[in-house]
Amino acid sequence: MARSTAVLTIVLFSTAMALAMAATDDRRPQQNSHSHPGPSPVSNPLDVIATTNAAPSEAPTGFDDQPNGMVDSSTHGMDAAVFSEVEDGAGGLGPLFNAQSCRECHQTPAVGGVSQVTELRVGYVDAHGNFTNPNIAIGDGSVTIANRSLVNDRAMCPSADYPANEVQEHAPDRVNVRTLRSSLNTLGDGFIEAISSATIIDIATKQCKGSFGQVCGQVIQVPVAEAPGQTRVARFGWKNQHASLLSFSADAYLNEMGVTSRLQPTDLTSLCKTTTDPEDHQDTDGNSDIDRFARFMRASKAPARDLNLANTADAEAGAAIFDKLGCDTCHVPTIVTAPAGSVINGGSLIVPDALGNKIIHPYSDFLLHNVGTGDGIVQNGGPATAQKLRTPPLWGVRLRSRFLHDGRALTFTDAIRAHDNEASRATRGFFNLSDQEKQQLLTFLKSL
Ligand code: HEC
Ligand code: HEC
Repeated sequence: MARSTAVLTIVLFSTAMALAMAATDDRRPQQNSHSHPGPSPVSNPLDVIATTNAAPSEAPTGFDDQPNGMVDSSTHGMDAAVFSEVEDGAGGLGPLFNAQSCRECHQTPAVGGVSQVTELRVGYVDAHGNFTNPNIAIGDGSVTIANRSLVNDRAMCPSADYPANEVQEHAPDRVNVRTLRSSLNTLGDGFIEAISSATIIDIATKQCKGSFGQVCGQVIQVPVAEAPGQTRVARFGWKNQHASLLSFSADAYLNEMGVTSRLQPTDLTSLCKTTTDPEDHQDTDGNSDIDRFARFMRASKAPARDLNLANTADAEAGAAIFDKLGCDTCHVPTIVTAPAGSVINGGSLIVPDALGNKIIHPYSDFLLHNVGTGDGIVQNGGPATAQKLRTPPLWGVRLRSRFLHDGRALTFTDAIRAHDNEASRATRGFFNLSDQEKQQLLTFLKSL
């Protein structure tokens, strides 16, 4: 486990041309989304943005299982089937895992969506406030999984073949940071991946200036697994662990399901392991499962509004209140993706026509903020991010049954009440609204 990757934390940027001012944090990227990092030194070029004279057009939305135009319907159907496939031991599942298929946690209201499933993360904070990942002992203490904040909830053994192997992970006794992380929607994520890094940096700069330093989201650069040595502005996961859907897929396949791939080739333990790494193989058409997961998410339509509600006078008034309160500073309503032909993900992906120059309404800035709900865990962003979370996109939020990263809020009002620190002004504004205005804002949220 001798890794020495540097993570670059971008502190300040003014324009896409201003490549400077990166503060280096020499911690290696820690447990990712789901979680293990790649080694290798990093560089952080911005995406190479193509030019276009065409006016941007609205991205297609819907929960109809149909693709957004990036692939044909039958390819999308086959990719959805791989995303939904239930793995077993012979297919590489485990030895440690959380669930048997991507769909198990990404299902509502359509394959790729969200669910109530949460997972467990733990760590230590010392007297000086420094966070470290624990080492997790399994096999009755015979084996240690080093540097791991994700505690898998399920294990394959002991079993008939391996009666003596106890591999279930547990939070070590000394752990003093613990949190649950709820699942996230992946539908429409191809559009998010297609947002240029410069656009996210620009949002950060403007929001900080516009709020006179009150709301200053943090940009972080994270490794792109399929482009060794490259990093990109993060945008996926509660802690902004990833910038690429292929990287996230490989990470999830290993850390949620225990399936190794070319990008995450080593299993978490060899105890009670029957298969040979990497377990995810290329098909005859050259694609592995991780490629199909990524293509499935990239080809998915963005979450659709509840149009019956969205067109009511109350929801429209609520949208205006949302902006007036400054919720839109972080939950940014509209972003345009990079033009088709732009080169992203450290040179490994070209934005296709279906995803380029599209107007999307994610209601997120994809930046890390301290809104007073922080879980104390440090992942790819370095110590300053311990109490921060990425602004969750609110598109499709009406389909969640529990809110916030740990699912602690069950109503929109409770979710808003939990916002403090950087969001304290917006929260105060909400509680100062008249009952009718509050209702209008909630109606707007229910239409998203
Ligand atoms: C046991 C449940 C579970 C399984 C199985 C699972 N995920 Fe996830 N997924 C999560 C959780 C929880 C998060 C949020 C993790 C975090 O940020 O800490 C997440 C987040 C994601 C995200 C980030 C979405 C965003 O917009 O930020 C992607 C992409 C993703 N998962 C893809 C996959 C893929 C592909 C698979 C199958 C290989 C998979 N997941 C399997 C629970 C699961
Ligand atoms: C400073 C940035 C910021 C501002 C301003 C802000 N939010 Fe948030 N919002 C966040 C972050 C970060 C989270 C995630 C917190 C967590 O999960 O612990 C969040 C979470 C939420 C959620 C829960 C989403 C989910 O999927 O669980 C809702 C709903 C929400 N915000 C609505 C609002 C509303 C309404 C306002 C205005 C009154 C507002 N927010 C203002 C950053 C902000």
